[in-house]
Amino acid sequence: TPAAPAAGDHDRPLVVAHRGASAYAPENTLAAIDKARDMGFRWVENDVQRTKDGELVIMHDDNLKRTTNVEEVFPGRSPWKVKDFTAAEIAKLDAGSWFSPKYAGERVPTLAQYMRRVSRNHQKLVFEFKKPELYPGIEKQGLRVLRETGWLDKHHVKSKLVIQSFSADSVKTVHKLRPDVKTGFLGTPSIADLPAYAEFSDQINSTHTSISTAYVAAIHAFKGPHGKPLEIFTWTVNDAANARRAASFGVDGIITNTPDVVRKALRDH
Ligand code: G3P
Ligand code: CA
Repeated sequence: TPAAPAAGDHDRPLVVAHRGASAYAPENTLAAIDKARDMGFRWVENDVQRTKDGELVIMHDDNLKRTTNVEEVFPGRSPWKVKDFTAAEIAKLDAGSWFSPKYAGERVPTLAQYMRRVSRNHQKLVFEFKKPELYPGIEKQGLRVLRETGWLDKHHVKSKLVIQSFSADSVKTVHKLRPDVKTGFLGTPSIADLPAYAEFSDQINSTHTSISTAYVAAIHAFKGPHGKPLEIFTWTVNDAANARRAASFGVDGIITNTPDVVRKALRDH
């Protein structure tokens, strides 16, 4: 078993490897989370969608074109949507060559495969339901896979998992189904609207270009569904100046394709 990464949770802001260490390995693959582990990062982020036959897979776009060789393998199947392919078909795709020949043969992981690897790597996860409106019932299904892979036991729920979405309805559904699980809403609600989000969301995860010291302070002033101050993980910060700027606002986490750059910027500060 690989050694646990060094960085602990006491250092704030937490540095979260976006889609894995996606500047250095193909996004949302097992190689990308292994790369984050090898670089010493405990927290990773992913995106979850559903295949035609109902398997959950790790993929950012709702379309397979950008990050696999689907056009080559299934030339007649335009527009190559995730939801129009079976899990067996997706398992045939190369999800690494588009990034670099070094990663040829890397696969699109199923959610279960991905969770087992996050466990093996002793990592923690910001889990995103991507476009949940396309996949009715995906929250219940995703939670089932998390339970089956050991991710809904007390220990994991306490400190290893956040489930987020751009869809407030999806976050609400997750909170309703599993009130113990930490949740995040992706977006930048007005300060006046924060109390409504705080009913079901522990985090307000905004793009770094939309936030300020005042906004972060406002977030921290409200208590989330678990009675603790709301948190903010901001994204996607890939350079030193913006990392220092976000940290100066007092954010709780920085989601980044280049976790090494962010870590160095925070240490040198
Ligand atoms: O985790 C935040 C970020 O991933 C949201 O945007 O499009 O990269 O999923 P996106
Ligand atoms: Ca994401």
